[in-house]
Amino acid sequence: MSYAEWAGIAAPYSRSFGALCASTIPEVLTEARVGGHAPGRVLDAGTGTGEVAIAAAAAGWQVDAFDAEPSMIAFATESAGARADASSIRFTTATLPGIPYPDQAFDAVTANFAINHVDHPRECLAELWQKLVPGGRLVATVWPWESTPTGRLWREIQDETGAYPPPADRLPAGSDFDRSEDGLAGLLAECGFEDVRARRVRFTWRVAADDLWSGVEAGIAVIGYAYAAAAPETRERMRAAYDARTPALTGADGLLHFELSAVLASGVRPAVAG
Ligand SMILES: C[S@@+](CC[C@H](N)C(=O)[O-])C[C@H]1O[C@@H](n2cnc3c(N)ncnc32)[C@H](O)[C@@H]1O
Repeated sequence: MSYAEWAGIAAPYSRSFGALCASTIPEVLTEARVGGHAPGRVLDAGTGTGEVAIAAAAAGWQVDAFDAEPSMIAFATESAGARADASSIRFTTATLPGIPYPDQAFDAVTANFAINHVDHPRECLAELWQKLVPGGRLVATVWPWESTPTGRLWREIQDETGAYPPPADRLPAGSDFDRSEDGLAGLLAECGFEDVRARRVRFTWRVAADDLWSGVEAGIAVIGYAYAAAAPETRERMRAAYDARTPALTGADGLLHFELSAVLASGVRPAVAG
């Protein structure tokens, strides 16, 4: 998904796939403090609706956050402004590579499901490396390339309705990286990070069926591309196929439950650049 496709979808993103991405926030902020560092200055890259930035501010970090999409930044600014503990966050519209922050300005950088959306991951990570103080840590998350309960749901709907997305424009082989612990850790090491650690974050994601579907209707993720490309009659069949499957996924709380995992990796800018 190129960042241009994030325009005007902040509200449905927040209800659906943004709520999913927020599942890793506690682990991301814990990882940013590995080594016993107290909360200092953090830069949140590809902040989207600002959930990581807002949680970081609430945890005592001094936060700068940026996103390429102005409507995401507008949504994040409004969300943070509604909270006394997040009103000091500085949100900026900016695109990697080429962000307007001085080098060596941050004790930590967070990139929650952002590196998997840029065209040049190595170039972007090298630039984020520059923004860290020596000894500062970058924490990144990506979705693994493997079968997931949400992926199975979307595939069943596609198989039943024949609504497949246009061919995905995957990154060229030389730019891409494996969406696994080893793949993300290797990417960080290639970009000059040291003390690289990677692990799987496992969680149960609970979401209302209509909230998740609002993300599909907004054209988010592969199922969203398929929906956007489908004829009106096919869209109706997609929703019917979804409705037919959600009861089996619904818990006693009335929400859909998905057992999911994300890949989290972090690394440090070494004290002496090598
Ligand atoms: C999946 S969302 C993640 C948002 C947020 N970090 C979260 O956890 O919800 C990816 C975000 O990256 C942004 N993005 C994509 N390419 C970007 C780039 N080159 N520079 C800055 N932001 C970018 C998009 O606009 C989008 O808001």
